[in-house]
Amino acid sequence: MARLKSIPRAEFARRRRHLMRLMGRDSIAIVPAAPVRLRNNDVEYAYRQDSDFHYLTGFDEPESVAILIPGRAHAEYVLFVRDRDPARETWDGRRAGPAGATRDYDADDAFPIGDIDEILPGLLENREKVYYVMGVHPDFDQRVVGWVNGLRAQSKHGRHAPQEFVALDHVLHDLRLFKSRGELDMMRAAARIGAAAHVRAMRACAPGRHEFEIAAEITHEFRRHNADHSYLPIVGGGENACILHYRENDAVLRDGDLLLIDAGCEYQSYASDITRTFPVNGRFTAAQRAVYDIVFEANVAATAKVRPGNHWNEPHDAAVRVITQGLVRLGLLKGRVPALEKAQAYKRYFMHRTGHWLGMDVHDVGDYKVGEQWRVFEPGMVLTIEPGIYIPAHARGVPKRLRGIGVRIEDDVAVTRNGCEVLTDGAPKAADEVEALMGAA
Ligand code: GLY
Ligand code: MN
Ligand code: MN
Repeated sequence: MARLKSIPRAEFARRRRHLMRLMGRDSIAIVPAAPVRLRNNDVEYAYRQDSDFHYLTGFDEPESVAILIPGRAHAEYVLFVRDRDPARETWDGRRAGPAGATRDYDADDAFPIGDIDEILPGLLENREKVYYVMGVHPDFDQRVVGWVNGLRAQSKHGRHAPQEFVALDHVLHDLRLFKSRGELDMMRAAARIGAAAHVRAMRACAPGRHEFEIAAEITHEFRRHNADHSYLPIVGGGENACILHYRENDAVLRDGDLLLIDAGCEYQSYASDITRTFPVNGRFTAAQRAVYDIVFEANVAATAKVRPGNHWNEPHDAAVRVITQGLVRLGLLKGRVPALEKAQAYKRYFMHRTGHWLGMDVHDVGDYKVGEQWRVFEPGMVLTIEPGIYIPAHARGVPKRLRGIGVRIEDDVAVTRNGCEVLTDGAPKAADEVEALMGAA
């Protein structure tokens, strides 16, 4: 796979300009980096930059704060970053420092993070609105309120404090919802690597192997492309597939069972999110195939609804229709399809929605409704299509041959000018294609 470039610096600058245009000149935005999180004692979790911060800066060091001050003559874009420190860098790795922040990340001005209490109030002064995302980093929320209140307390000394907090997420997350050409390239790469991992898992799968061994194949494929998991992978054999967020991944895979894998990678900060379900021994039983084909048909029908002008819920409605009809055919639901849909009878076996926005976050930002109306698809939006059927092992009134079967088929789909592009078609999903691939392994 060809090595891909990352998002160019000019695009980060474009994003900041775009946001500042929307904010207006009497405002200031404050965007903190993600905090470092402890795993236990003094061991940290792998650091993952805050998506909003990365989107605006491309800067992935912790203990940083980005400030945008539209129209400010001296510097509109200010970064606070960790200072250079040769001793700490020997232990913890390289730091850009303020000089690197201006040289390599295009900040108009940059300061050591230790100076923020001294400098930030001066930047807030004479601005009316503070754009900030409240509630994501609670410790930092307190500091922001502290800086503004500190200024207010000095009003009798002639200092002017901002009068209004504005939810930055409303504006910024709507920008993030629409992926640029560069972002779509990253998402195609994340999808391609993710799909290759699913193919590798299908090839590696055999009765007697463990779920974690197959999970290891997935991780190997991600890491060899410098990608990592975008969420905890679900590798569930047999009835484990019916646990929607199955995490143990430690059971032995049995001949005659299905294996459901929900695993996607993050590449250059962009996520893929893919599910495939396939027979452990490479051949579907008749009962498995009957369930599988319904989910497959629902996936295809839902995907066909992804095009400009259609609204957010149309893929889900299409999936619900196919699944309800299928469940009636299987004898798992009884009655007329429209009435069953209205009563949401399918929820016993299909209890989640058909998808979500996808981007830097797996469940990406962006509103699903505008007012009371479902959002209408526009080019550049990316979402998942992920119908499923899960028949619990101990479901009452269910024929034995269908019990414990769980199937989900999840693709990543970008809205294009005329329809959509399925980013994850590198992983086969038609039952015959899955069997052909596994038979050839
Ligand atoms: N892997 C999380 C999801 O499918 O939404
Ligand atoms: Mn998903
Ligand atoms: Mn998923």
